[in-house]
Amino acid sequence: MEKIKDALDKAKKIQSSSRNIKGQNIISSDNRNYLDLENINYTKTKKVKVSEELLRNKRILIGDVKDEISDEYKVLRTQVIQLMNKNNWSTLAISGPKEGCGKTLTSINLCISIARDVNQSVLLVDLDLRRPNIHNYFFTQEVLGISDYLVNKKNLDEILFNPGIERLVVLPGNKSIQNSSEMLSSPQVVQLVNELKNKYSNRLVIFDMPPLLSCDDMLAFTPYVDAFMLVVEDGVTLKQDLKRSVELLDTNKLLGIVLNKSKDSVGINQYY
Ligand SMILES: Nc1ncnc2c1ncn2[C@@H]1O[C@H](COP(=O)(O)OP(=O)(O)OP(=O)(O)O)[C@@H](O)[C@H]1O
Ligand SMILES: [Mg+2]
Repeated sequence: MEKIKDALDKAKKIQSSSRNIKGQNIISSDNRNYLDLENINYTKTKKVKVSEELLRNKRILIGDVKDEISDEYKVLRTQVIQLMNKNNWSTLAISGPKEGCGKTLTSINLCISIARDVNQSVLLVDLDLRRPNIHNYFFTQEVLGISDYLVNKKNLDEILFNPGIERLVVLPGNKSIQNSSEMLSSPQVVQLVNELKNKYSNRLVIFDMPPLLSCDDMLAFTPYVDAFMLVVEDGVTLKQDLKRSVELLDTNKLLGIVLNKSKDSVGINQYY
C-alpha cells in the first residue's frame, strides 16, 4: 500500500510547505485547575470556564507549555502567519483528504499557538457542519453553536466564546446541519465570512473543515477563503488521496501540508 511518505513527493512539486507535528501525547501532571479568565477583556465575547484537565486529555496546548510539541506548533504558526501576511490573507480553511487525520486538533492547537503571538488575534470557526467537533474539545456539556446562528437565528455574540486564552475567540459548532454544502456557499455563510474577516483587521480567521474527499463541503467553500491547508496522517493517508486532494484545489491558495501523527522523534520536515 502506498503511504504518505511517497505522497509527500507530490507536496514538494506543488511548492507547498509541510510541518511535521509529532504524534506524541502532551498530557502531563493533572490537577483539575481551571483557567483564570478574570483579566481577559473581550468586548461582547463571553468568557467561559474550561477544564484544564479536559484540555490536557484532549491534547490541547494549554498554560505555559514548553515542550517539543509546543515548539513544533510555534514553527507552524510562524510560517502560517508569515505566509498569510505576505499575501495579505486573513482567512484559512484547514482540511485533509479523509476523516480522523487530525484536522480539528491541528486547527485548535495552531490557533492557540497563533494567539500566543502577542501581535496576532485569531478566530477559530467550526465549519464541519456535518460532524462539528470543536465544542467536544472544550466542553463536556452542550453549548450553542454555529447552527443556532445559521438555522435558529441566534445572535453571534451568544455563541462566540473565549476559552481563557488571550486573543483567541472560538465559534463552535454543535448540531449537524443538513444540506451542509449548499449552506457553505449560501449568501448567509458568505456574509458571515466577510463579517468575521472585516471585523478586526489584525485577526486571522481559521475554519476547521470536513474532509475534502468525503463530501463536497470543502470544495463548495473554497471560493470564499483566502487560503487552505491540508492535514495528512503519517502512515495512514494514501498517496492517491493526497494527490486527488491537491488536484481538486487551487494550488495558488494552498498554504501547505501538515504531516500529523508522525512517528519521527525529532525535527520538523519541510517540503518545497
Ligand atoms: N498529533 C497527534 N497525536 C496524537 N493524537 C492525535 C494527533 N492529532 C490528532 N490526534 C487524535 O486523533 C483523533 C482525531 O483527531 P481530529 O478530531 O483532530 O481529526 P479530524 O481529522 O478532525 O477528524 P474528523 O474527520 O472526524 O473531523 C483525536 O482523538 C485526536 O486526539
Ligand atoms: Mg474534525
